[in-house]
Amino acid sequence: MKLNIPVEETIKKRVSTRTYKSKKLSVHDKEKLMKEISQLTNPFGENVRVHIIEKDTVSNGEKLGTYGVIKGASTFLGVTTDKTEFGLVAAGYQFENLVLIATDMGLSTVWLAATFSRDQFEKAMDIQKNKLFPAISPIGYATDKRSITESLMRKTMKSDKRKPWEEIFFQESFGNALSRKDANEYTKPLEMLRLAPSATNAQPWRVVKKQESYHFFETHKSNVSDEDKMIKKVDLGIALSHFHQTALENGLAGKFEKQEDIKIDIPVNTNYIISWKIG
Ligand SMILES: Cc1cc2nc3c(=O)[nH]c(=O)nc-3n(C[C@H](O)[C@H](O)[C@H](O)COP(=O)(O)O)c2cc1C
Repeated sequence: MKLNIPVEETIKKRVSTRTYKSKKLSVHDKEKLMKEISQLTNPFGENVRVHIIEKDTVSNGEKLGTYGVIKGASTFLGVTTDKTEFGLVAAGYQFENLVLIATDMGLSTVWLAATFSRDQFEKAMDIQKNKLFPAISPIGYATDKRSITESLMRKTMKSDKRKPWEEIFFQESFGNALSRKDANEYTKPLEMLRLAPSATNAQPWRVVKKQESYHFFETHKSNVSDEDKMIKKVDLGIALSHFHQTALENGLAGKFEKQEDIKIDIPVNTNYIISWKIG
């Protein structure tokens, strides 16, 4: 389903925020947010849930830690999903849709998959043991100035930069770059995918256009941990949110499907995730 926001404009506006005003969410913003959360969906048929807590209303609130990365925030969102093939991809997709809605509302967020005390948030959000709990995000109003920690993090991860188009988008086979011209009406959805946020700004997505399909892949370094591999799937879901929502905004028809035999040689440490079939 297309989000009821200007998608491209909002994707360009979104930026991770780690330094917040201590002000709580206004009643109006909280009510709208709750309504939006209840209406979120994903195109993978997965059961994704968004949790919300206020630090001062949960019993272990004072223990909810972010390793000093997040300053000032009092409201936090969390996302959970099932241990299924597309669970994490769907969580990435659905939570990023919420991030974009929040951005459109003038609220700030930052995906956190590593720098938070997962056990404490799991307790506070009352998350069942059989669920995957990949990430949280603070939500609130950004301060005018970033903390020093935040500025340093952005510099280290080159957060304002993205990989060039030719390193991530291919035609027919890996290594054969897809030009913007050959992407035709899909130039915009791919460009918006390219701007997506990812853990440590690694941008693990690769896309190969072949005939009437765009095939999506995840790539990682050979020494990556199992936990990091999981997060790459979330990153892919985020990329698919940007791609899909921009396609919908541009009136492009198609559907996500896992194809049995894509007939593409896949490089090492790269995995096929799903395809977008045009039409
Ligand atoms: C799945 C995911 C996990 C992330 N985990 C963290 C984290 O644990 N701590 C943190 O400070 N930032 C985290 N980030 C934020 C990224 O560092 C940030 O998105 C990236 O540097 C690009 O910057 P931008 O979002 O401002 O465009 C995460 C982002 C994503 C998408």
